[in-house]
Amino acid sequence: MSATLATASYIGATILFILSLGGLSNPESSRRGNLYGMIGMTIAVLATVFGPNVTAAGYAWIIAAMVVGGSVGLYAARVVRMTQMPELVALMHSLVGLAAMLVGFANYIDPAASAEFVGAAKSIHEMEIYIGILIGSVTFTGSVIAFGKLSGKIGGKTLLLPGRHWLNLAGLLVVIWFGREFLQAESIADGMTPLIVMTVIALLFGVHMVMAIGGADMPVVISMLNSYSGWAAAATGFMLSNDLLIVVGALVGSSGAILSYIMCRAMNRNFFSVIAGGFGSDGGAPAPTGGVQPAGEVNPILAAETAELLRESKNVIIVPGYGMAVAQAQHTVYEITKVLREKGVNVRFGIHPVAGRMPGHMNVLLAEAKVPYDIVLEMDELNEDFPDTDVAMIIGANDIVNPAAEEDPSSPIAGMPVLQVWKAKTSIVMKRSMATGYAGVDNPLFYKDNNRMLFGDAKKMLDEVLTALKA
Ligand code: TAP
Repeated sequence: MSATLATASYIGATILFILSLGGLSNPESSRRGNLYGMIGMTIAVLATVFGPNVTAAGYAWIIAAMVVGGSVGLYAARVVRMTQMPELVALMHSLVGLAAMLVGFANYIDPAASAEFVGAAKSIHEMEIYIGILIGSVTFTGSVIAFGKLSGKIGGKTLLLPGRHWLNLAGLLVVIWFGREFLQAESIADGMTPLIVMTVIALLFGVHMVMAIGGADMPVVISMLNSYSGWAAAATGFMLSNDLLIVVGALVGSSGAILSYIMCRAMNRNFFSVIAGGFGSDGGAPAPTGGVQPAGEVNPILAAETAELLRESKNVIIVPGYGMAVAQAQHTVYEITKVLREKGVNVRFGIHPVAGRMPGHMNVLLAEAKVPYDIVLEMDELNEDFPDTDVAMIIGANDIVNPAAEEDPSSPIAGMPVLQVWKAKTSIVMKRSMATGYAGVDNPLFYKDNNRMLFGDAKKMLDEVLTALKA
């Protein structure tokens, strides 16, 4: 394939990626967005493999790598459950970071790659390598720790080292100092020491940054790492002089940054303190380990009584959370919604920006179950309506309806906006036990006089409610 055709294909792929991002911004057009992304990626891979930079000798390696990578990807896509998606994404981000790090080292060591650049161009190329490895290393370890926290392999507790901001600052100064040493190095052997020191510091910073994040603040970090992985890919593009990688990396990097900003606003956290790492703990005490002892008496309710309350209501707000995803209860939720709407009940859904385990988690599930979009509302759109609501039905949600966020300044989730379900005439919480949610904090909602607990698996309990409603 000629260089011109490869460039034209890259431009075509870029346009498809932009259309893909546009499509993904709305549930109705998201399938189309995905399709554009898949076509764009196919064109990008073909144009790169058959492009001018690959020689015939390289094909065997590329095919072998594609078979191995493709098989792992196919296997992961088949076995991963919807609830494990966020962990898988975190793991994938770590691979982008690792790739940027390895490409950086390979590029520096490769005599052919360095011989291409002289004078100022050489300094610029080395700067690309230094920054590329820096971003790649932070993304790599940060994402590995995020994977550990999301999959429960590492506890959600914050690790707060004494003087952690000073540690970060010292790390940054050392990285800048060694960057200067690296650029002034006479030979590759001389440059290796500063490069390795910086890499170690960056790897440790990645660990430190994510370990310091409190449970409920993980969503912000995930979108940050998403953004970092984009910048790592862009840095790889600079090192390999690949325009497409630069553009695509910048697209991922900037859309991830915008998402992080939206998440920060939703969580009422400061964007800049997120970048510095270790936020989310200043607002309150870290979540205690080993679970929290329930504090008070709760009022249980049966499925048949729940159905009765729903039937007699005029206004119902359903608040889904992570437990609905675990139980895969969205289809039954829709069936119940249909029955209630046929009876003239005004049913709406209240979606918290960090409900579930990934951005848009609940919207995806509800769209899959064909719940009409016009009754699925954002938290801000209906939070004021709870006092006029007869029943707020909370399905497998916990942290996002925790009044302690508003009422207890010492709570680890203090300051996080929540759905004010306790203001409804009756709130019904559907969950299996008194266990805490992701943030590991007790929920005073459970003990309120107007709250009822419907204990059991969400799918099973909702099936019972549906049967009772139809009876
Ligand atoms: P959580 O606070 O994690 O609560 C989910 C609740 O669902 C649990 O208390 C659990 O109680 C219940 N549950 C689990 N399986 C169930 C089942 N089969 N049937 C019924 N209930 C079940 O979830 P949330 O309210 O959606 O809040 C999200 C949390 O995750 C926030 O802290 C958020 O910061 C964090 N987070 C979010 C994201 C994104 S981007 N959305 C990413 C990472 C972390 P039982 O065990 O008693 O059933």
